[in-house]
Amino acid sequence: MSDRKATLHVEGMDPIELPIYSGTTGPDVIDVRSLVSQGLFTYDPGFVSTASCESKITYIDGDKGVLLHRGYAIDDLANNSSYLETCYLLIYGELPTSEQLANFEEQVTMKTMVHEQLVNLFRGFRRDAHPMAIMCGVVGALSAFYHDTLDITDESHREESALRLIGKMPTLAAMSYKYSVGQPFMYPRNDLNYSENFLHMMFGNPCEESKIDPVLARAMDKIFMLHADHEQNASTSTVRLAGSSGANPFACIASGIAALWGPAHGGANEAVLDMLEEIGDVSNIDAFVAKAKDKNDPFRLMGFGHRVYKNFDPRAKVMRETCDEVLNLLGVENDPLLQIAKRLEQIALEDEYFIARKLYPNVDFYSGIILKAIGIPTSMFTVIFAMARTVGWIAHWHEMHSGPYRIGRPRQLYTGETARDYPKK
Ligand code: SDX
Repeated sequence: MSDRKATLHVEGMDPIELPIYSGTTGPDVIDVRSLVSQGLFTYDPGFVSTASCESKITYIDGDKGVLLHRGYAIDDLANNSSYLETCYLLIYGELPTSEQLANFEEQVTMKTMVHEQLVNLFRGFRRDAHPMAIMCGVVGALSAFYHDTLDITDESHREESALRLIGKMPTLAAMSYKYSVGQPFMYPRNDLNYSENFLHMMFGNPCEESKIDPVLARAMDKIFMLHADHEQNASTSTVRLAGSSGANPFACIASGIAALWGPAHGGANEAVLDMLEEIGDVSNIDAFVAKAKDKNDPFRLMGFGHRVYKNFDPRAKVMRETCDEVLNLLGVENDPLLQIAKRLEQIALEDEYFIARKLYPNVDFYSGIILKAIGIPTSMFTVIFAMARTVGWIAHWHEMHSGPYRIGRPRQLYTGETARDYPKK
């Protein structure tokens, strides 16, 4: 913290001195907590200029297109690390030794099965239920099964819940897919790594040995890493807010899943595919770009723009490289949707409207094309985002509970009716 001060001059009031704090990098912050005692609130709908907390987990520089997890650049991690190693880094703050990683992987593997009673919960859904609806339900329900680790003040309970969630999310996600296609649930296998296991549970069947393509498993693992955490985004802020009331970790993660589902957030990857399919052909791109620029038209180019990035989303760059790799491997490098996406990106990046607003492709723009090429249905795209982001959510939840915090309770600018009497009959 620094001894710098901001002085606020409000007409008719004495100058108000507010402390300024500096982080290790990034913008300084003005501590406005004392304003309420002066009868003032700050006003920042959408929290565009608001730091909701102090954190050491992830740093984003939106102007430079930089994303660091505990100081390590996302492209460095995506090209050299693994999802579980990144999970360890996000939760514990340092890269694990090989022994620590092996132990972490073993612990997660031993938590991939779910209670058999949970299977009955799936049976309550219609077969055509959206997998995200199922995930909201079954993840929240996990708190009904783990009464032994719900003391959020106990670090060992928090750690156990984190391992359980990281281990079980792929199993539950694959179950939500299998349920939707009427196929039997596949049990996880302890001889497979995290991403291989997910593909096994998604596409395997009890009648034959699963054949997992290691290149696709590696691509899946990279996609998980690229979605693992992203500072105080809408769903992570939701998890922190839910956690600030003392809610159990499973309920908090379920709240994050719900917030992620929106098309402006994690639902964008599904919306990108729907958009590319609606465009249908590169000849239609100009008409859709015009719609995206038309203020009277609610249509937006899904997968474009970001609250923080005013430069290329570094994840989108890695995702595009992975897209080329996977589609070349699968012999679908001429996938029409990929052609439309690449042409759309080129047109948008040359268009004054997008340039002036610094709108670039974000993490969701290419991810759906890879997932579709791997054979994952569009309805599962946001489920995969939720699976991967679970570690970010639980790392922030754990960080919050590892130090002093208060229940989140924003105020408002009230513009409604002032007090009035109920009309006498
Ligand atoms: C994720 O926060 C995170 O970190 C999220 C995330 C994570 O990892 O957790 O990165 C994941 O959610 C990525 C974003 C996925 N969403 C989409 O791709 C949906 C399309 N994008 C937009 O809805 C929008 O860009 C947002 C929601 C991402 C950001 O919205 P903001 O910050 O509130 O920006 P804005 O709506 O104020 O837009 C600024 C201007 C506006 O025009 P003007 O009023 O200034 O004239 O840019 C325009 C917007 O109309 N604009 C777009 C646009 N995005 C913004 N115009 C057309 N197409 C778009 N995609």
